[in-house]
Amino acid sequence: MAQSEYVFQRAEDQRELDRLRMIEREFDPASRKRLLATGLQAGWRCLEVGPGAGSIMTWMGEVVGPTGQVVAVDLDPKFLGEAGQSNMKIVRADIRTAQLPEQSFDLVHARYVLIHIPDYEAALNRMLDCLKPDGWLVLEEPDFSASHGMTGSEAQLNAVQKVNDAIHVMYERRGMDYALGCKVQGLLQARGLQFLTMENDGSPSVGGSGLATIMKMSATQLREKYLATGVVSDEDLEQYCRFAENPHSSAIYYATIRVSGRKGS
Ligand SMILES: C[S@@+](CC[C@H](N)C(=O)[O-])C[C@H]1O[C@@H](n2cnc3c(N)ncnc32)[C@H](O)[C@@H]1O
Repeated sequence: MAQSEYVFQRAEDQRELDRLRMIEREFDPASRKRLLATGLQAGWRCLEVGPGAGSIMTWMGEVVGPTGQVVAVDLDPKFLGEAGQSNMKIVRADIRTAQLPEQSFDLVHARYVLIHIPDYEAALNRMLDCLKPDGWLVLEEPDFSASHGMTGSEAQLNAVQKVNDAIHVMYERRGMDYALGCKVQGLLQARGLQFLTMENDGSPSVGGSGLATIMKMSATQLREKYLATGVVSDEDLEQYCRFAENPHSSAIYYATIRVSGRKGS
C-alpha cells in the first residue's frame, strides 16, 4: 500500500492547506469557466472528487442552489470541516470504492486527482458509473512532461531539469503517470464520451508567480521523496527554490490539460 499512498498524505497540515489554497487561487478561474461551459446551473446534482481545500465544491454549491446538491468525495476530507451548506454532502472514501448511487449526477469534476491514483482507470470508470445519461465529466490533470526551465542561470536551469527528472522518477516508482494529462482525452474518447473539448494551459510562469510558488511549496513538502529518487541533491533543491522565487526566471512548470465530455444518453 505504501507505494500507492497519496503522495501528500503525510505533509504537514498547515503547509498542505497553504499549498491547496494557492492551487485554488491560481486555477479556480479556469476551472469555473470550464464547468460553467457545461451548462452548470441551479438544480444540478454534482460530484466533486478530491475537493482538497474545497473552493470548487463550495462554489458549485452556490451555483446549484437549494434545489441542487453537491457530493464531495475525498480520501481525507480534513480541510473541509463540516459541510456548511444544506445542499452539500461530504463523503470520506476512496473514489474507486465509494458507495455512490449509479447514474445520479449531472456533472462529475476532478482536478489533480487521477494523477495520484495508480489504477486511475478504475477511478474514471467509477465516476462514469455515477453520471446520469447526458451528464458531463470535467477532468483537469497535469502533464509534467511539458516542464522545462526557460530563463535563468545555467546552474538553476540544470537544477530545474533535475527536479523535473526527480518528479518523473517519483511518480514512475509509485506506479503513476507524470504525463497523465496527455492521456485524458483518449481515455474519454475510448469510453464514448461526446462533445469533447480540450484545453492545455502550459504557459511559462515567472519566479514568484502563483504556479512557481506552488511548485516551490511542493518541492519543500516532498523534499525527502525527491531526494530518495537519487537524481537530485539538496543543493539542486535549494537552487530550484531560489529560481522559483526569482522574478527574472521563467519556466513552464507543467501544463494543465482540461477535458470535458458528455456521456451518451
Ligand atoms: C492535489 S489535491 C487537489 C485538490 C483539489 N481538487 C484542487 O485541485 O484544488 C488531491 C486531492 O485528491 C484527494 N485524493 C487522492 N486520492 C484520492 C482517491 N483515491 N479518492 C478520493 N480522493 C482522493 C486528496 O486527498 C486531495 O484532497
